Amino acid sequence: MNYSAKVMDHFTNPRNVGEIEDANGVGMVGNAKCGDIMKMYLKIDENDVIVDCKFKTFGCGAAIATSSMATELIKGKTVSEALALTNSAVVEALEGLPPVKVHCSVLAEEAVKCAVADYYTRIGRPIDFEVPTEHDEE
Ligand code: FES
Repeated sequence: MNYSAKVMDHFTNPRNVGEIEDANGVGMVGNAKCGDIMKMYLKIDENDVIVDCKFKTFGCGAAIATSSMATELIKGKTVSEALALTNSAVVEALEGLPPVKVHCSVLAEEAVKCAVADYYTRIGRPIDFEVPTEHDEE
């Protein structure tokens, strides 16, 4: 399988790995088929800006690379900008993924959405988007 240099970089040297103790948005998603799990921690300020973002991924190399890239893409952005992050934007930023690995990038998009949904719940804001749940699609 051919991975881009960017994917290899984010896999071997992932950014923002870990947990945020006082995170106010935490989301976890999993893919039942491959068994991979991704957990995303967001620290969001009073202006809805994501001031910090970390992740923990128990999964394949592409899942690690896509979560790393997703954290880079949403850090410093507002929650609504983070909600607009698509898995294809993550793939594009990584300069491509083999087709069988595209579902790994879906997990990254979903982890962000779940974490934002948790934030909305904590601050009592209605959730006006679809919250991902565990699924078993490819
Ligand atoms: Fe399932 Fe990569 S193989 S997330």
